[in-house]
Amino acid sequence: MEKFRISKERAFELLAKYGSPLYVYSEELIRKRCREMKGLLSRENFRVNYSAKANTNLEILKIIRDEGLYIDAMSPGELIIEEKAGFKPEEILYVSNNLSPEEMQFVIEKGILLSVDSLSQLELYGQLNPGGRVVVRFNTGIGAGHHQKVNTGGKKTKFAIQAEFIPQVKEILAKYRLRLAGINQHIGSLFLGVESYLASARRLFQLAKEFPGLDFVDLGGGFGIPYHPEEKRLDLVQLGQELEKAFEEFLAEYDNPDLILMVEPGRYIVAEAGNLLGKVYSVKENYGVKYIGTDLGFNVLMRPILYDSYHEVQVLKNPASKETSNKRERVNIVGNICESGDILAENRDLPLIEEGDIVAVMDVGAYGFVMSSNYNCRLRPAEVLIDAGGQDRLIRKRESYEDLLRHFPGL
Ligand code: LLP
Repeated sequence: MEKFRISKERAFELLAKYGSPLYVYSEELIRKRCREMKGLLSRENFRVNYSAKANTNLEILKIIRDEGLYIDAMSPGELIIEEKAGFKPEEILYVSNNLSPEEMQFVIEKGILLSVDSLSQLELYGQLNPGGRVVVRFNTGIGAGHHQKVNTGGKKTKFAIQAEFIPQVKEILAKYRLRLAGINQHIGSLFLGVESYLASARRLFQLAKEFPGLDFVDLGGGFGIPYHPEEKRLDLVQLGQELEKAFEEFLAEYDNPDLILMVEPGRYIVAEAGNLLGKVYSVKENYGVKYIGTDLGFNVLMRPILYDSYHEVQVLKNPASKETSNKRERVNIVGNICESGDILAENRDLPLIEEGDIVAVMDVGAYGFVMSSNYNCRLRPAEVLIDAGGQDRLIRKRESYEDLLRHFPGL
């Protein structure tokens, strides 16, 4: 299975059982992607940290842990869920950005290794945990990503420390007797060609030579998936071979032959394992454009309005429909939010859609539910897992109106 594509019968059955809209995930595909990533390099000193921000559902984290992946975190909330999923402190890397002293203290007290990405945060770490182990995130000057908003390397991003500041990094490390356990980077989210990742990996290896005795080098995530049918899959075999070569060359010149190489995939592990199901409630034409009105507003899936992202859509016809033609139409699939930008799929050529049909949105396992919101006071949807035996199981309850009222004092 390359992508999880829910069947029509199953989709109608699940919406009848759990309500709409609904996120549905395939355990089988998550496990397959974990294994592929673990096989990127076939060596002992290679480690895969799942980047949990892509999907933090507790049951999904348990599956990923069961596959032997480690994990990153970037907020106390992520840490707390990861601990509940069974991850041990030494299996977690906290990749931070602009922490308050209280948050940094919280991570230190849990005994979790922390990566800092500015000189001022390194200074703060030194003050809070003198003599401790720390990780520093560098920006090699190379970036990648499907949108400028998720490109985290190069000259136009808030992230990481540029190589020119290495002397200051060394000064702060010495001042607080900190041990640098590793260095990390993340060039951005979603690359489908291997060049930028490899180029930046080579630069980070060069940088590592400035710091003898590191335990690991962490190259970050960004491994893309083909959202559009015309996109080619990322060639993990080629990437693995070239990475292996670059790593070998680096190790030959480095003082710790046991140094661990780490990667941090988020999207690659979970994106294709998720479908979002919603219902069609209205069909209309406005000034020559056909609009398919659904319950899939951008409160449920943010990626299209935020990044103009493309998600493939499957039309699942209502079994009661009398429509038997093979007619197709150009349509905009829209949600139920009060903004014109609330367009899930624009100008798509699809089979004729009627009220009562189901729309299944593909590749939503990453940055789908985790970015959903209560905008317009709508409830966040439920999540269901199709387990390895093919059984469905609720893994997050749909929110209730009590949840919406919970935080008003005095109620
Ligand atoms: N490591 C770090 C430090 C990161 O900031 C991220 C993602 C990752 C790893 C994992 O990246 P991935 O392998 O998933 O590309 N909401 C956006 C993506 C934001 C990614 C943020 N950082 C989207 O929907 O496309």
